[in-house]
Amino acid sequence: MSIQIELQSTIAELVVTGKGILAADESHPTMAKRFKAINIESTEESRRAYRSLLLTTPDLNEFISGVILFEETLGQQADNGMPLPKVVADQGIVPGIKVDKGTLPMANAPGDLITQGLDGLADRLAGYKEQGARFAKWREVYSIGVHNPTQLGIEANAEVLARYAAICQSLGIVPIVEPEVLLDGDHSIERCLEVTEAVQHAVFHALHRHRVELEFIVLKASMIVPGKDAQRKAVPDEIAEKTLKQLRRSVPAAVPGINFLSGGQTPEEATANLNALNALAGNSPWQLSFSYGRALQQPVLQTWQGNPENIKAAQTALYKRAKLNGAARYGNYSAGMEKE
Ligand code: 13P
Repeated sequence: MSIQIELQSTIAELVVTGKGILAADESHPTMAKRFKAINIESTEESRRAYRSLLLTTPDLNEFISGVILFEETLGQQADNGMPLPKVVADQGIVPGIKVDKGTLPMANAPGDLITQGLDGLADRLAGYKEQGARFAKWREVYSIGVHNPTQLGIEANAEVLARYAAICQSLGIVPIVEPEVLLDGDHSIERCLEVTEAVQHAVFHALHRHRVELEFIVLKASMIVPGKDAQRKAVPDEIAEKTLKQLRRSVPAAVPGINFLSGGQTPEEATANLNALNALAGNSPWQLSFSYGRALQQPVLQTWQGNPENIKAAQTALYKRAKLNGAARYGNYSAGMEKE
């Protein structure tokens, strides 16, 4: 298959009406944190058991078009011995892989971070592709402060994202481009809009410089929300209005899909915000969807508690959350549906 056709068919399967992406790509330290909250030790086996639970959820493909896996999961098997990437692909869900190696402080830009992992990336991607991955994810992180992110940080992070995306496309792997503006802080929603606009503007400028084909990327965006310690909170309608305003200013119409991260919003908030976005969007040029980690998995972890007897109930919790977000893709979600 030519690279162009590979990219095209992956995008066609990933960006689908009514569906979104499950992010199950937590690094070992993050997984340890999530497990600690339910008193489970994070080991290779406990991570395998948990991810196996997620990925064997019956009928998940009704609302999930892609799953982002962590490197370790690519080589693990379900309880019946089937490789987990194959479990995913057999359901008609596209397997993907997180490929960045986390962040480090950026020299000469105090308060800004920069993501590691470009060295050797092409070789790693070729290996992941052999294991079944058809798309990748790379996350750059921006904290909002009085002096952050700096212009230097914004430009350097954009350059790294574009280099990653260009390498992915050269190998027929669809890049998810994720510039995450963090929720931490007491900044206003207006400040979040200002920062996110500058960040995404720089990202698309860099993607253009690196000749990345926008038709074959997915933007993983953060919503425009006030800092989590801000005095003035915002309702979904305001979040949707400001997020759409920012996206229209920054994201070219060639981009097929924008899949939001949940970033610390509760599952209910993340669904209500996505719903408001789709209700307000009219015929926007992009599909507005989800690529949630915590907002899909929190109820699953709480139900599972590491007990095999709870697997069915935990899978029901995942299916329910995916279904509600599927409804939010059409602007058809209402809070009452939480109780059904
Ligand atoms: P959250 O939805 O928990 O923010 O995770 C999504 C993700 O993959 C961040 O990179």
